[in-house]
Amino acid sequence: MKILVTGGLGFIGSHTVVELQNAGFEVLIIDNLENSTIEVLDGITNITKVRPHFQKLDLRVKEDVKSYFKTHNDIAGIIHFAANKAVGESVNEPLKYYENNINSLVYILQELCKLNHQNFIFSSSCTVYGQADTLPITENAPVKPAESPYGNTKQIGEEIIRDTCRINDKLSSIALRYFNPIGAHPTTEIGELPIGVPQNLVPFITQTAIGMREQLSVFGGNYATPDGTCIRDYIHVVDLAKAHVIALQRLLEQKNKSNFEVFNLGTGKGSSVLDAITSFEKVSGKKLNYQIVDRREGDVVSAYAETTSANTVLGWKTELTLDDAMDSAWKWEQKIRAK
Ligand code: UD1
Repeated sequence: MKILVTGGLGFIGSHTVVELQNAGFEVLIIDNLENSTIEVLDGITNITKVRPHFQKLDLRVKEDVKSYFKTHNDIAGIIHFAANKAVGESVNEPLKYYENNINSLVYILQELCKLNHQNFIFSSSCTVYGQADTLPITENAPVKPAESPYGNTKQIGEEIIRDTCRINDKLSSIALRYFNPIGAHPTTEIGELPIGVPQNLVPFITQTAIGMREQLSVFGGNYATPDGTCIRDYIHVVDLAKAHVIALQRLLEQKNKSNFEVFNLGTGKGSSVLDAITSFEKVSGKKLNYQIVDRREGDVVSAYAETTSANTVLGWKTELTLDDAMDSAWKWEQKIRAK
Protein backbone atom coordinates (compact mmCIF):
# COMPACT_ATOMS: atom_id res chain seq x y z
CA MET A 1 0.00 0.00 0.00
CA LYS A 2 1.42 3.37 -1.02
CA ILE A 3 1.54 6.15 1.55
CA LEU A 4 2.57 9.71 0.72
CA VAL A 5 4.54 11.57 3.39
CA THR A 6 4.92 15.30 2.77
CA GLY A 7 7.88 16.80 4.59
CA GLY A 8 9.18 13.26 4.85
CA LEU A 9 12.80 14.34 5.22
CA GLY A 10 12.08 16.54 8.23
CA PHE A 11 12.49 15.65 11.89
CA ILE A 12 9.16 13.94 12.62
CA GLY A 13 8.55 13.05 8.97
CA SER A 14 11.74 11.00 8.59
CA HIS A 15 11.10 9.02 11.78
CA THR A 16 7.56 8.34 10.59
CA VAL A 17 8.80 7.11 7.19
CA VAL A 18 10.96 4.56 9.03
CA GLU A 19 8.02 3.31 11.10
CA LEU A 20 5.78 3.13 8.02
CA GLN A 21 8.38 1.06 6.19
CA ASN A 22 8.85 -1.15 9.25
CA ALA A 23 5.08 -1.76 9.16
CA GLY A 24 5.31 -2.83 5.49
CA PHE A 25 4.02 0.28 3.71
CA GLU A 26 5.54 1.57 0.50
CA VAL A 27 6.46 5.19 1.14
CA LEU A 28 6.55 8.11 -1.26
CA ILE A 29 8.19 11.27 0.06
CA ILE A 30 7.66 14.85 -1.06
CA ASP A 31 9.93 17.50 0.42
CA ASN A 32 11.12 20.89 -0.85
CA LEU A 33 14.43 20.58 1.07
CA GLU A 34 13.99 24.08 2.48
CA ASN A 35 14.52 22.89 6.03
CA SER A 36 15.99 19.43 5.45
CA THR A 37 18.72 17.71 3.47
CA ILE A 38 18.74 14.93 0.91
CA GLU A 39 21.18 12.93 3.11
CA VAL A 40 18.22 12.12 5.36
CA LEU A 41 17.11 9.76 2.61
CA ASP A 42 20.33 7.78 3.11
CA GLY A 43 19.76 7.73 6.86
CA ILE A 44 16.28 6.29 6.38
CA THR A 45 17.58 3.75 3.87
CA ASN A 46 20.38 2.68 6.22
CA ILE A 47 17.82 1.86 8.90
CA THR A 48 15.15 0.13 6.84
CA LYS A 49 17.24 -1.15 3.90
CA VAL A 50 14.52 0.18 1.60
CA ARG A 51 14.93 3.47 -0.24
CA PRO A 52 11.65 5.39 -0.29
CA HIS A 53 10.54 7.06 -3.50
CA PHE A 54 11.49 10.74 -3.30
CA GLN A 55 10.45 13.77 -5.27
CA LYS A 56 11.56 17.33 -4.59
CA LEU A 57 8.39 19.31 -4.79
CA ASP A 58 7.15 22.60 -3.41
CA LEU A 59 3.54 22.26 -2.32
CA ARG A 60 2.99 25.99 -2.75
CA VAL A 61 3.03 25.44 -6.50
CA LYS A 62 -0.53 24.39 -7.20
CA GLU A 63 0.16 23.03 -10.69
CA ASP A 64 2.91 20.79 -9.31
CA VAL A 65 0.58 19.43 -6.64
CA LYS A 66 -2.03 18.71 -9.30
CA SER A 67 0.36 16.90 -11.59
CA TYR A 68 1.86 14.92 -8.68
CA PHE A 69 -1.52 13.47 -7.79
CA LYS A 70 -2.29 12.84 -11.46
CA THR A 71 0.88 10.76 -11.79
CA HIS A 72 0.49 9.04 -8.42
CA ASN A 73 -3.14 8.05 -8.52
CA ASP A 74 -2.84 4.94 -6.35
CA ILE A 75 -1.95 6.50 -2.99
CA ALA A 76 -3.87 4.94 -0.07
CA GLY A 77 -3.12 7.60 2.53
CA ILE A 78 -1.30 10.84 3.17
CA ILE A 79 0.58 12.06 6.21
CA HIS A 80 1.08 15.80 5.88
CA PHE A 81 4.07 17.20 7.76
CA ALA A 82 5.37 19.76 5.28
CA ALA A 83 5.15 23.15 7.00
CA ASN A 84 7.22 25.88 8.60
CA LYS A 85 7.39 25.52 12.36
CA ALA A 86 9.51 28.21 14.01
CA VAL A 87 7.32 30.17 16.38
CA GLY A 88 9.55 33.29 16.56
CA GLU A 89 10.10 33.44 12.80
CA SER A 90 6.36 33.21 12.23
CA VAL A 91 5.84 36.38 14.25
CA ASN A 92 8.25 38.27 11.97
CA GLU A 93 7.21 36.61 8.71
CA PRO A 94 3.51 35.81 9.06
CA LEU A 95 2.79 35.68 5.33
CA LYS A 96 5.50 33.08 4.76
CA TYR A 97 3.70 30.90 7.30
CA TYR A 98 0.21 31.52 5.94
CA GLU A 99 1.33 30.93 2.38
CA ASN A 100 3.21 27.74 3.08
CA ASN A 101 1.21 26.11 5.85
CA ILE A 102 -2.23 27.04 4.54
CA ASN A 103 -1.91 27.08 0.75
CA SER A 104 -0.15 23.73 0.67
CA LEU A 105 -2.87 22.17 2.78
CA VAL A 106 -5.65 23.59 0.60
CA TYR A 107 -3.98 22.41 -2.62
CA ILE A 108 -3.58 18.88 -1.28
CA LEU A 109 -7.17 18.72 -0.03
CA GLN A 110 -8.43 19.97 -3.40
CA GLU A 111 -6.72 17.03 -5.08
CA LEU A 112 -7.94 14.55 -2.46
CA CYS A 113 -11.53 15.68 -2.97
CA LYS A 114 -11.29 14.58 -6.60
CA LEU A 115 -10.51 11.01 -5.52
CA ASN A 116 -12.87 8.25 -4.49
CA HIS A 117 -11.72 7.81 -0.94
CA GLN A 118 -8.83 9.36 0.90
CA ASN A 119 -7.18 9.08 4.29
CA PHE A 120 -5.38 12.11 5.61
CA ILE A 121 -3.29 12.61 8.77
CA PHE A 122 -2.49 16.17 9.79
CA SER A 123 0.40 17.38 11.95
CA SER A 124 -1.17 19.60 14.56
CA SER A 125 0.16 20.90 17.84
CA CYS A 126 -0.67 21.37 21.50
CA THR A 127 -0.07 25.03 20.78
CA VAL A 128 -3.78 25.19 19.79
CA TYR A 129 -4.66 25.02 23.51
CA GLY A 130 -2.51 27.98 24.58
CA GLN A 131 -2.38 28.04 28.40
CA ALA A 132 -5.11 25.54 29.18
CA ASP A 133 -7.25 26.18 32.25
CA THR A 134 -7.13 22.54 33.32
CA LEU A 135 -4.24 20.07 33.35
CA PRO A 136 -3.67 17.52 31.96
CA ILE A 137 -5.09 18.87 28.69
CA THR A 138 -7.88 16.86 27.09
CA GLU A 139 -8.86 17.04 23.43
CA ASN A 140 -12.00 18.87 24.53
CA ALA A 141 -10.10 21.75 26.08
CA PRO A 142 -11.02 24.97 24.29
CA VAL A 143 -8.82 26.16 21.46
CA LYS A 144 -7.45 29.51 22.65
CA PRO A 145 -6.57 32.51 20.46
CA ALA A 146 -3.23 31.64 18.87
CA GLU A 147 -0.08 33.17 20.36
CA SER A 148 1.73 33.21 17.01
CA PRO A 149 1.03 32.98 13.28
CA TYR A 150 2.56 29.50 13.41
CA GLY A 151 0.03 28.45 16.05
CA ASN A 152 -2.71 30.09 14.04
CA THR A 153 -1.83 28.03 10.97
CA LYS A 154 -2.35 24.86 13.02
CA GLN A 155 -5.74 26.08 14.26
CA ILE A 156 -6.82 27.22 10.80
CA GLY A 157 -5.45 24.02 9.30
CA GLU A 158 -7.65 21.93 11.59
CA GLU A 159 -10.67 24.07 10.71
CA ILE A 160 -10.02 23.74 7.00
CA ILE A 161 -9.89 19.96 7.33
CA ARG A 162 -12.97 19.84 9.57
CA ASP A 163 -14.98 21.94 7.10
CA THR A 164 -13.80 19.85 4.16
CA CYS A 165 -14.64 16.57 5.92
CA ARG A 166 -18.09 17.91 6.76
CA ILE A 167 -19.04 18.18 3.11
CA ASN A 168 -17.06 15.18 1.89
CA ASP A 169 -17.67 11.88 3.64
CA LYS A 170 -15.18 10.17 1.34
CA LEU A 171 -12.39 12.06 3.06
CA SER A 172 -11.32 10.68 6.45
CA SER A 173 -8.89 12.62 8.56
CA ILE A 174 -7.13 12.59 11.90
CA ALA A 175 -5.39 15.63 13.37
CA LEU A 176 -2.62 14.71 15.78
CA ARG A 177 -1.78 17.35 18.37
CA TYR A 178 1.83 16.86 19.34
CA PHE A 179 3.20 17.98 22.65
CA ASN A 180 7.02 18.46 22.66
CA PRO A 181 8.75 15.99 20.31
CA ILE A 182 12.42 15.38 21.13
CA GLY A 183 15.14 12.77 20.68
CA ALA A 184 16.49 10.90 17.67
CA HIS A 185 16.43 7.43 16.17
CA PRO A 186 18.41 4.98 18.38
CA THR A 187 20.58 4.04 15.38
CA THR A 188 21.68 7.72 15.14
CA GLU A 189 20.98 7.53 11.40
CA ILE A 190 18.36 10.31 11.63
CA GLY A 191 17.55 13.06 14.13
CA GLU A 192 16.79 16.75 14.45
CA LEU A 193 18.78 19.15 12.25
CA PRO A 194 18.03 22.67 13.45
CA ILE A 195 19.24 25.41 11.14
CA GLY A 196 21.03 28.26 12.88
CA VAL A 197 20.57 28.89 16.60
CA PRO A 198 18.07 26.36 17.95
CA GLN A 199 14.92 27.80 19.45
CA ASN A 200 13.86 24.55 21.10
CA LEU A 201 15.18 23.32 24.39
CA VAL A 202 16.74 19.95 23.61
CA PRO A 203 18.88 20.92 20.60
CA PHE A 204 20.05 23.92 22.59
CA ILE A 205 21.03 21.63 25.47
CA THR A 206 22.97 19.21 23.24
CA GLN A 207 24.68 22.02 21.30
CA THR A 208 25.74 23.62 24.58
CA ALA A 209 27.10 20.34 25.90
CA ILE A 210 29.12 19.75 22.74
CA GLY A 211 30.61 23.25 22.91
CA MET A 212 28.78 25.01 20.07
CA ARG A 213 26.95 27.30 22.52
CA GLU A 214 28.45 28.73 25.63
CA GLN A 215 25.49 28.51 27.92
CA LEU A 216 21.85 27.46 27.98
CA SER A 217 19.48 30.20 29.10
CA VAL A 218 16.63 28.77 31.14
CA PHE A 219 13.72 31.09 30.41
CA GLY A 220 12.18 31.95 33.76
CA GLY A 221 12.78 30.52 37.21
CA ASN A 222 9.87 32.06 39.10
CA TYR A 223 6.85 30.40 37.53
CA ALA A 224 4.22 28.88 39.80
CA THR A 225 5.59 25.35 39.32
CA PRO A 226 7.40 23.10 41.82
CA ASP A 227 10.90 24.23 40.75
CA GLY A 228 9.91 27.57 39.19
CA THR A 229 10.57 26.54 35.56
CA CYS A 230 8.01 25.79 32.84
CA ILE A 231 6.52 22.36 32.46
CA ARG A 232 6.14 20.50 29.17
CA ASP A 233 5.29 17.01 27.96
CA TYR A 234 8.43 15.82 26.17
CA ILE A 235 7.70 12.91 23.85
CA HIS A 236 10.27 10.71 22.13
CA VAL A 237 10.06 11.19 18.36
CA VAL A 238 10.07 7.41 17.76
CA ASP A 239 6.96 6.98 19.94
CA LEU A 240 5.40 9.90 18.10
CA ALA A 241 6.24 8.38 14.71
CA LYS A 242 4.59 5.09 15.69
CA ALA A 243 1.39 6.94 16.56
CA HIS A 244 1.14 8.08 12.93
CA VAL A 245 1.22 4.50 11.68
CA ILE A 246 -1.51 3.52 14.15
CA ALA A 247 -3.64 6.53 13.18
CA LEU A 248 -3.22 5.69 9.51
CA GLN A 249 -4.18 2.05 10.10
CA ARG A 250 -7.26 3.28 11.96
CA LEU A 251 -8.37 5.13 8.84
CA LEU A 252 -7.40 2.38 6.41
CA GLU A 253 -9.36 -0.18 8.45
CA GLN A 254 -12.23 2.32 8.79
CA LYS A 255 -12.22 2.07 12.56
CA ASN A 256 -12.64 5.84 12.95
CA LYS A 257 -15.83 7.01 14.67
CA SER A 258 -16.22 10.13 12.54
CA ASN A 259 -14.44 11.36 9.43
CA PHE A 260 -12.57 14.01 11.42
CA GLU A 261 -10.94 12.99 14.69
CA VAL A 262 -8.40 14.65 16.94
CA PHE A 263 -5.91 13.03 19.32
CA ASN A 264 -3.34 14.39 21.71
CA LEU A 265 0.07 12.81 21.39
CA GLY A 266 2.05 13.11 24.59
CA THR A 267 3.32 11.01 27.46
CA GLY A 268 0.90 12.48 29.97
CA LYS A 269 3.81 13.39 32.19
CA GLY A 270 4.91 16.96 32.78
CA SER A 271 8.63 17.67 33.13
CA SER A 272 10.19 21.00 34.03
CA VAL A 273 13.12 22.58 32.21
CA LEU A 274 15.30 21.62 35.18
CA ASP A 275 14.01 18.01 35.00
CA ALA A 276 15.09 17.96 31.35
CA ILE A 277 18.53 19.26 32.26
CA THR A 278 18.88 16.72 35.09
CA SER A 279 17.92 13.92 32.72
CA PHE A 280 20.45 15.13 30.15
CA GLU A 281 23.22 15.31 32.75
CA LYS A 282 22.39 11.82 33.98
CA VAL A 283 22.49 10.10 30.58
CA SER A 284 25.44 12.07 29.20
CA GLY A 285 27.54 12.20 32.35
CA LYS A 286 28.21 15.88 31.51
CA LYS A 287 27.49 18.96 33.58
CA LEU A 288 25.52 21.48 31.60
CA ASN A 289 26.41 25.15 31.78
CA TYR A 290 23.10 26.94 32.27
CA GLN A 291 21.72 30.06 33.82
CA ILE A 292 18.22 31.10 34.76
CA VAL A 293 17.27 34.27 32.89
CA ASP A 294 14.10 36.26 32.21
CA ARG A 295 10.96 34.62 30.96
CA ARG A 296 10.54 34.18 27.20
CA GLU A 297 7.59 36.01 25.75
CA GLY A 298 4.72 33.78 24.69
CA ASP A 299 5.69 30.75 26.82
CA VAL A 300 2.85 28.97 28.56
CA VAL A 301 3.56 27.92 32.14
CA SER A 302 2.53 24.34 31.93
CA ALA A 303 1.26 21.96 29.24
CA TYR A 304 0.96 18.19 29.36
CA ALA A 305 -1.43 15.78 27.71
CA GLU A 306 -4.38 13.82 28.93
CA THR A 307 -3.65 10.61 27.05
CA THR A 308 -6.75 8.50 27.74
CA SER A 309 -8.18 9.01 24.28
CA ALA A 310 -4.90 8.22 22.51
CA ASN A 311 -4.37 5.18 24.76
CA THR A 312 -7.85 3.66 24.60
CA VAL A 313 -9.45 4.91 21.38
CA LEU A 314 -6.38 5.09 19.17
CA GLY A 315 -4.72 2.22 21.02
CA TRP A 316 -1.30 3.82 21.28
CA LYS A 317 0.90 4.77 24.16
CA THR A 318 4.44 5.92 24.67
CA GLU A 319 7.08 3.33 25.48
CA LEU A 320 10.19 5.46 25.79
CA THR A 321 11.24 7.77 28.63
CA LEU A 322 12.67 11.27 28.90
CA ASP A 323 16.05 9.65 29.64
CA ASP A 324 15.79 7.54 26.45
CA ALA A 325 15.02 10.67 24.45
CA MET A 326 17.88 12.65 25.97
CA ASP A 327 20.28 9.76 25.46
CA SER A 328 19.37 9.48 21.76
CA ALA A 329 19.50 13.26 21.26
CA TRP A 330 22.97 13.36 22.80
CA LYS A 331 24.27 10.45 20.71
CA TRP A 332 22.86 12.12 17.59
CA GLU A 333 24.51 15.45 18.42
CA GLN A 334 27.87 13.73 18.93
CA LYS A 335 27.53 11.87 15.66
CA ILE A 336 26.69 14.90 13.51
CA ARG A 337 29.45 17.03 15.02
CA ALA A 338 32.06 14.30 14.59
CA LYS A 339 31.72 14.59 10.79
C1 UD1 B 1 7.01 25.53 20.85
C2 UD1 B 1 5.58 25.70 20.43
C3 UD1 B 1 5.05 24.46 19.79
C4 UD1 B 1 5.93 24.09 18.64
C5 UD1 B 1 7.32 23.86 19.17
C6 UD1 B 1 8.23 23.47 18.02
C7 UD1 B 1 4.22 27.22 21.71
C8 UD1 B 1 3.40 27.44 22.93
N1 UD1 B 1 4.77 26.02 21.58
O1 UD1 B 1 7.00 24.65 21.97
O2 UD1 B 1 3.76 24.64 19.33
O3 UD1 B 1 5.43 22.93 18.04
O4 UD1 B 1 7.78 25.05 19.80
O5 UD1 B 1 8.94 24.50 17.48
O6 UD1 B 1 4.35 28.09 20.91
N2 UD1 B 1 13.51 26.81 26.94
C9 UD1 B 1 14.55 27.35 27.68
N3 UD1 B 1 15.67 27.73 27.01
C10 UD1 B 1 15.83 27.57 25.65
C11 UD1 B 1 14.76 27.02 24.92
C12 UD1 B 1 13.61 26.65 25.60
O7 UD1 B 1 14.46 27.51 28.90
O8 UD1 B 1 16.86 27.96 25.11
C13 UD1 B 1 12.31 26.38 27.66
C14 UD1 B 1 11.05 27.11 27.21
O9 UD1 B 1 10.86 28.29 27.98
C15 UD1 B 1 9.98 26.06 27.47
C16 UD1 B 1 10.71 24.73 27.25
O10 UD1 B 1 12.08 25.03 27.36
O11 UD1 B 1 9.58 26.11 28.81
C17 UD1 B 1 10.42 24.12 25.89
O12 UD1 B 1 10.64 25.11 24.90
P1 UD1 B 1 10.66 24.76 23.34
O13 UD1 B 1 11.50 23.56 23.11
O14 UD1 B 1 10.97 26.00 22.61
O15 UD1 B 1 9.16 24.29 23.03
P2 UD1 B 1 7.77 25.03 23.30
O16 UD1 B 1 7.94 26.49 23.42
O17 UD1 B 1 7.10 24.31 24.42
